[in-house]
Amino acid sequence: MSENTVTIINNATGQQIELPLRNGTEGASVVDISRLYRDLGVLTFDPGFFSTASCHSAITYIDGEKGMLLYRGYPIEQLATHSSYIEVVYLLLYGELPAAEELRRFEAVIGRHTMINEAMRDFLKGFHHDAHPMAMMVGMVGSLSAFYHDSLDIRDPRHREISAHRMIAKMPTIAAACYKHHIGEPIMYPRNHLGYCGNLLRMMYATPCEEYEVNALEEQALNLLFILHADHEQNASASTVRLAGSSQANPFACIASGIASLWGPAHGGANEEVLKMLEEIGDVSNIEKYIAKAKDKDDPFRLMGFGHRVYKNYDPRATIIRDMCYKILEQKADSSNPLFELALRLEEIARKDDYFISKNLYPNVDFYSGIIYRALGIPVNMFTVMFAIARTVGWVAHWMEMMDDPDQRIGRPRQLYDGARLRDYVPLERR
Ligand code: SDX
Repeated sequence: MSENTVTIINNATGQQIELPLRNGTEGASVVDISRLYRDLGVLTFDPGFFSTASCHSAITYIDGEKGMLLYRGYPIEQLATHSSYIEVVYLLLYGELPAAEELRRFEAVIGRHTMINEAMRDFLKGFHHDAHPMAMMVGMVGSLSAFYHDSLDIRDPRHREISAHRMIAKMPTIAAACYKHHIGEPIMYPRNHLGYCGNLLRMMYATPCEEYEVNALEEQALNLLFILHADHEQNASASTVRLAGSSQANPFACIASGIASLWGPAHGGANEEVLKMLEEIGDVSNIEKYIAKAKDKDDPFRLMGFGHRVYKNYDPRATIIRDMCYKILEQKADSSNPLFELALRLEEIARKDDYFISKNLYPNVDFYSGIIYRALGIPVNMFTVMFAIARTVGWVAHWMEMMDDPDQRIGRPRQLYDGARLRDYVPLERR
C-alpha cells in the first residue's frame, strides 16, 4: 500500500481498490475517485458537497478553521489595505499583481467596454418598474449573449479574454441602468475618466440636470467592499457558472446563471435579508426573542448574516467590514446609526450563546455589508446587485480557469435513485 493512495474496501463484496491521494499547495488533500464506479461499482453521495472538491483551482484559498482568505496567495487583509478593486480584478484574472504600466493598460481596456448596446436599454422597458433589480440583472446580463458575434468562439483564448473584459466592464453600467429604471430616472452613460467604482456611483446617482461629483469616501468604501466580495472559491454561484460553462455555453449566459444562484437568501441575497432582519428586530430588547427563534428547530427563521459552510471561525471579510462601518458612519456623521449598534449587540449576544458557539456560527460577509451600503444611500434591494458586480470577476476567473484546462469535461453528476422500480404502463381504463 502506497502512502499516496487510500484503500477502499466494499465489505458487502470484499472487493478493495486503491485510489490516488492528490495534494494541493494549501489545504486538504483529495482522494481522486474518478475510477471508483468503474473499479468498485459504487458512487459517492455528498448532496451539499460537504466533503467534495469539484475541481482544482489556483484562484482563491480559504482556511475555514483559521478564518483565512487568500486571492492568488495574497491575504485579503493586505489587499483590503493596499490594493484597489481594479487591481484585484487583474490579480484574479491573470494570477499576478500588475506592474504600473500593465495596470494602466488594463484600466484603459476595461474603460473601453463600459457601454452597452443601445438595444439593451429597450429591454429594460419590458420590466415593470417595481421588478426586483436582481430579476432585471438576470435578464439583462443573459441578453448580452445575443450580441458580440465577432468574438464568441469560446475555444479561442483571445475571444474568452475579450468576453471576460466585456462582462466585467459592463456590469456597473447594466446595474446602474436597472436601478435607474427601477426609480424612473433617465439612464446615465458611463464616464470613462472615472474609476470603476466612481463610474458606478455616478451612473447610479447623477441626473442629466446637474453636474455630479463622486464622493471620495463613498468611492473608497465601495472599492473596499468590492475587493472583499470579488471571489470566494467554489461557492454556490461560482460552481453554478462552472457547471453551466462546462457544456461550452455562452459565457454571458453562464454569468447570468451565477447571478440567479447568488440571489438566493442562503447566499448573496443574505445581505438584503440582514437589513430586513435588523429592521424587524428593531430594538436591542427584542434580540433575545430572535436568538430564540434562530435556535428553534421548528422555526424556519435563521440569523441572517451568520454561519458559513467553510468558515468555522470569523469570516475575515466580516471583521474588515465591521471595522469600516465605524469609519464610514463617523464620517457620514451617522455614528449613532441604530442598525449598526443593533448589529453589534446582536453579534455580541449571539457569540456568547452556546448554540452559536457549539455550531461555530460567526458573522459572515453579509452581516455588516448592508450597514455600509445603506450609509452610501444604496437601497436594500440593490445590495445583492452590488455583490453581483463585485463577484463577476470571480465568476469570470473560474470560467476562464475551467475553459483553459485541457482536461475540461462537461459536468454531469450521478445520483442515488430511490424512485419506483421497473413497472409496466397501466391503461387508463384499468387505473
Ligand atoms: C455567502 O459559500 C460561500 O463562500 C458563500 C459566500 C461567498 O462569498 O460566496 O461566503 C457568501 O453566501 C455567505 C452566507 C450568507 N448566508 C446567510 O447568512 C444565511 C444564513 N446562514 C445559513 O443559512 C447557513 O449558515 C449557510 C447557508 C450560510 C451555511 O449552511 P450549511 O453549511 O449548509 O450549514 P447548515 O445549514 O447545515 O447549518 C449547520 C447547523 C444547522 O443546525 P443543525 O441542523 O446541525 O442542528 O447550524 C445551524 C443549522 O440549523 N445554522 C443556523 C444558522 N446557520 C446555520 N442556525 C441559525 N441561524 C443561522 N444563520
